[in-house]
Amino acid sequence: MAKKITKKTSKTASKAAAENSKGAEVQVAAVMKEDLPEKEIPAPESAVTVPEEAVPTASAEAVIQEPASGGPLTRDAEAPEITEPSQPEAEHAAPVEPAAEEDVPQSSAEFAAPEEIAATPRKSVAFIGSECYPFVKTGGLGDVMYALPKALVKQNCDVRVILPRYKCIHWEYQEKMVYRGAFDMDLCADGRRYYVGIMEYVWDGVVYDFIDNEEFFAWGNPYTDLVQDIPKYCYFAKAALAALNYMDWIPDIIHCHDWQAALVPVYLRTQFEHTALSSAKTILTIHNLRFQGVYNIPTVRYWSGLPDYVFDLGALKTGYNDANMLKGGLAYANVITTVSQTYAGEIQTAFYGESLDGHLRYHSAKLRGIVNGIDYDIWNPNTDTRLYENYDIATVLDKKKENKRKLQEELGLAQDDQKFVIGLISRLTNQKGLDLVNAIIPDIMDGNTQIVVLGTGDQMYEDSFRYYESAYRGSVCSNIMYDETRAHRIYAGADALLVPSLFEPCGLTQLIAMHYGTVPIVRETGGLKDTVTPYNMFSNTGNGFTFDRYEAGLLLDAINRAKELYFNSRWCWDELVQRDMDKILSWQNSAKQYKELYLDLAR
Ligand code: ADP
Ligand code: GLC
Repeated sequence: MAKKITKKTSKTASKAAAENSKGAEVQVAAVMKEDLPEKEIPAPESAVTVPEEAVPTASAEAVIQEPASGGPLTRDAEAPEITEPSQPEAEHAAPVEPAAEEDVPQSSAEFAAPEEIAATPRKSVAFIGSECYPFVKTGGLGDVMYALPKALVKQNCDVRVILPRYKCIHWEYQEKMVYRGAFDMDLCADGRRYYVGIMEYVWDGVVYDFIDNEEFFAWGNPYTDLVQDIPKYCYFAKAALAALNYMDWIPDIIHCHDWQAALVPVYLRTQFEHTALSSAKTILTIHNLRFQGVYNIPTVRYWSGLPDYVFDLGALKTGYNDANMLKGGLAYANVITTVSQTYAGEIQTAFYGESLDGHLRYHSAKLRGIVNGIDYDIWNPNTDTRLYENYDIATVLDKKKENKRKLQEELGLAQDDQKFVIGLISRLTNQKGLDLVNAIIPDIMDGNTQIVVLGTGDQMYEDSFRYYESAYRGSVCSNIMYDETRAHRIYAGADALLVPSLFEPCGLTQLIAMHYGTVPIVRETGGLKDTVTPYNMFSNTGNGFTFDRYEAGLLLDAINRAKELYFNSRWCWDELVQRDMDKILSWQNSAKQYKELYLDLAR
């Protein structure tokens, strides 16, 4: 008997899509990001009178160092007053409560690295970002903020992850947090002081410090709208640095992620320049260039309390009167990384550059791409407790059929393990190539194919997938919801996974799919291009089916090539499934590259 599927619509989706932020709907500890509508994208730099290249800086290094010491970036006429280092003042600082013996956070040093890795110098790294699985996740950023620190511990790094303590974090984690202390901090121009609490949680060798402040984080959802998000992440960036100072934990590297943490390098080289922290080097990783944190200069200047000279075309200023938090961070960070090599190149072009291509070309000497991995503890079909049937490379061919039948039963699809089941697990936004999918669904439906969609996001995509479910009942199932368990079951039960993105910085779903023996069908862009080798029918090699130009006909062709192999050369298909499961997709190689980068930077 098929179980009834519960459906939920993201009520806030269309509203939030109108903001240059991430949209909001929390479902347990998860929300969905929203896209920045085209019209909100900051004006191209070329539209601005002073071109990037006109900023007289000799090298990327100079750009980073100079602003704090009165260097080359053009400053506003009325010279700014640089706020004094905002180290917590002793009289405001609550004493650090002595923790009970069993509560004392373990140091990641206890997690011994293998000998050859332990021989490389130990480095301390503070990760600063807005989400992290399992506390709060809206997409791949949450996965990376969890998995990369864990992998870095194995590379002989001491890692502390600084996160906002959102109200939506499940009580299961909230109750395990240990109070580390609290202090007051100045923030905006009005001189008001803000509470900064530090709650700590240690897990798998990684120390998580949650910044506690009811005023900013008690709303529940991580991302709401820019009116709230701009003050929230100004506060967060400054509080994260102040907390490191307060705990007297001076890392070698401060590794920031996306626009929500992009002001960290700016604060470090301005208001924190004269603190112990300033010895740290900064890395800013772009997970998705579309989200930049743009608002008018007076508002950002007010909330950040940053000196006037950072609101310059070489740093935060964009267009005539806007401040772009990501842009400022990119200017001030010592190194910029993004999550694949191809995306690192793409974002320097007008098509993918989201109006920051000129800025990124200017800083290209300090930009590089390191591809993401997946966490093998969470994503392992042999141990995944969410699956109906566990399997490995030796049992995948039989067990996948069983997973498929049970998935079909759960979703109310015709139960037949000979059907070709295509999965799609995604935020439903225009980044993900859903216009192409929508255009060809009628052409895919041939009586032998089923489609399973899982996602939330823009109303128009949610509605169109609902429509297709009703038009092809029993063959199409649209799960308009965020559901981790269902995601795991689709990865295991589907034969192929679609990722036809318009752009994709890295993409994790194609990696997870391959690890679960599910063949990816992807567009050759960003990380999809770097991680999926096209299937070659002559040599019987490759990992998936790919297409290049963003055209519905080419996606359909790739799907048809996949079907052809599945229905007419099953042994080749089966080999492809096993080859995908055999592919190394763990974090190990990439964590090694980050460690080398840390060593280079700290040298
Ligand atoms: P992005 O970060 O752009 O959303 P990624 O491919 O990097 O894309 O990461 C998406 C992550 O979110 C994956 O772990 C995927 O399984 C998960 N995910 C996306 N949508 C859903 C959903 N509706 N339910 C459960 N998990 C989802
Ligand atoms: C972003 C990107 C995605 C990437 C993820 C983690 O959300 O859209 O491609 O995999 O971040 O880096």
